[in-house]
Formats: sequence, structure tokens, C-alpha cells
Amino acid sequence: MRRKLAAGNWKMNGTRAALAEIAAMAEAAKGGAEVLICPPATLLAEAAQNEAGVAIGGQDCHAKPSGAHTGDLAADMLHDAGARYVILGHSERRQDHDEHNEDVRDKTRAAWDAGLTAIVCVGESLAERDAQNTLDIIGGQLAGSIPDGATGHSLVVAYEPIWAIGTGKVPTLDQIGDVHDFIRARLERRFGAGVGRSVRLLYGGSVKPSNAAEIFAVSNVDGALVGGASLKAADFVPIIQALN
Ligand code: G3P
Repeated sequence: MRRKLAAGNWKMNGTRAALAEIAAMAEAAKGGAEVLICPPATLLAEAAQNEAGVAIGGQDCHAKPSGAHTGDLAADMLHDAGARYVILGHSERRQDHDEHNEDVRDKTRAAWDAGLTAIVCVGESLAERDAQNTLDIIGGQLAGSIPDGATGHSLVVAYEPIWAIGTGKVPTLDQIGDVHDFIRARLERRFGAGVGRSVRLLYGGSVKPSNAAEIFAVSNVDGALVGGASLKAADFVPIIQALN
């Protein structure tokens, strides 16, 4: 049985004043679904200390355990600060930092070595969807970004169509279902049915209180990776409740 997961990706948003929002989410985190917030790295340690009921995660990590990499964070540093998850391969990292599948795979290995659960993001651009290449793109990202040895504990996969991120546009429920079923089948084929069925699959891209319940009813959707609507408890709590 896969535990539902409501994950918030705060991206480059939030100063210490925003920690009050996590505190306000903690009550909703007492339901059945797991609640995760991935704040900016500056807030990780304090968020992890304050709110035992809300899991805390990073938004990226370096592939190496330490060294001369100015501005970067090692997976073990995130773990030491209290993180238990890390988002890897988000399309914004792939675009803004020229990250490729091999980079994401190396970072995922580093995350696992540090004891973190990796949330590996995949998703097609609008041009790729229009050209009917969605499943090829997702298949390639899954094969290239996830190392061998995944387990239901170490891996979460987030399907985030790039054209749905922060745009208010959401794929149809059939489109979401098709991609999630495809991801599930690929994971089962590669890692075996037991592992493949235990990995949680999140949908991300313009999830809001108004559309969360219908998205969560789609087969193989085990939760969401939420951007804008995870910044405020007033928006994120109803999304958590739709999963509980
Ligand atoms: O990682 C979450 C994200 O990219 C979706 O963002 O703002 O469309 O919910 P948003």
C-alpha cells in the first residue's frame, strides 16, 4: 500500500517569516497522507527542527559528497540539516542549469548514499506533447535519470509537464492517467513488480485546491508535487485534505 504524499516545492521563495506557514500546515499533516515541504536551503534546518509532523526536503544536491563546488550543497549536508527528501531533475534545474539525465542519475545516487529519498522529476515540453513524443521523452528520462537499485523507499517519481508548471494549464485527467500508467509499467518492467508497484508517483503542474481531488482520483496518482499553491497554508491544507 503506497502512502499518499502531498509535497510542496517552494522553489526560490520564502524567508524565515514563511516558517509560520509550515507550522499552520502541521495540523493537516496528522491525517493519513504524508506532508513534505521543500523550502529554500536557508530554511531547511529550522523548518526540520520546528515541525516534527511535516517532512522537510531539499530542492537539489550535488553529485559529489564534498569538495570545491562553490555554492553547492552535498546530499549529506541536506540530511544533516534534517532533510529526508530531495527533489532532483526538476525541469527548472534541467533548463536553468543545463542538467541532463546523467546528472540527475548521479545526484540520485548521491542522495541515496546520504540516506535521502529522491523525488526524480520527469516531464515533456509542449512541443514534445504536440509532436506526440510525450511517452518517448518520459521513457528516456526515466531510463536515464534513475540509477539501478531503486526501492519504494528511496525513490518517488514526479510527472511534471513543463507546460503545466505555473501556467494554470493542466493536462486532461486521461492524459495524466496515461503518463502515470506508463511510468508505473516502466518501473515494474525495470525493477520488478514489487518495487515498481511500491514507488509513489506524484503529479505536478498547476495543482490547486479546486482541481486536487479530481487529479488524486486518477489511477497511479499517489499525490502531488505542488509549487505556488504550497506556499500558503490556506492553499496547501485543502490539497492535503483532498489526499487524507
Ligand atoms: O515542483 C512543482 C512545480 O513545478 C509545479 O509548480 O506552481 O505549477 O504548482 P506549480
